[in-house]
Amino acid sequence: MIPVLTLDGPSGVGKGTVASIVAQKLNWHQLDSGAIYRAFALAAMDCGIGIDNLDGLLELASKLDLEFKSNSDHAPLSVYLDKVDVTTELRTEKTATVASKYAQLAPLRKVLLVKQRQFQKPPGLVADGRDMGTVVFPDAPFKVFLTADPEERARRRLKQLQVGGNAGNISHTLDGVRKRDERDKNRAHSPLKPAKDALIIDTTNLTIDEVISKVMAIIEV
Ligand code: C5P
Repeated sequence: MIPVLTLDGPSGVGKGTVASIVAQKLNWHQLDSGAIYRAFALAAMDCGIGIDNLDGLLELASKLDLEFKSNSDHAPLSVYLDKVDVTTELRTEKTATVASKYAQLAPLRKVLLVKQRQFQKPPGLVADGRDMGTVVFPDAPFKVFLTADPEERARRRLKQLQVGGNAGNISHTLDGVRKRDERDKNRAHSPLKPAKDALIIDTTNLTIDEVISKVMAIIEV
């Protein structure tokens, strides 16, 4: 059984940063499942396939040509869609908002679920998202759910947007984070929620190193 560490939580909580540092420490593979939903949203927008055209969306999802490239410096993974680097576009709040709308569609999630499970390769996988511990890898031996106050998450998200070369302001970012969380928590399929066996870590007042130590502690016992 190839071990999986699932890292779930709301927008801007820092899952991606924690995931890439922990994956490098363990020398495990990494799955940024949000990037799959975001890349799908970009592809659907490019092709002009709306949310009401389910057949078109499913066909697009099954053909999605997606590639992740890791960077050595804990930076987020670079994402290539149809061999084109879409990393900057992918990280905008607009792409995230559209992604969260498509992410409500159960048949689409089913197609993307298969792609996500393909990342489980030796020696192990660190997978971050919303439903990693509940739906995609329910048997994972290590599960963490990260939380933080919305204001702190908006600050973190804004910093991340700026590092990624995207603009934004705090009230707009907070509004986007709140709306997306509501949509992710209240959807009928695979909603954002902690798995019953997940360790819940409130990161509001923790440094990144403190979060990493707590996550590593459950793997190293
Ligand atoms: O994690 P990230 O902010 O990149 O995710 C973008 C959106 O993709 C989320 O708001 C959510 O709607 C969707 N998503 C999801 N399930 C996942 C990961 C992301 O529904 N496992």
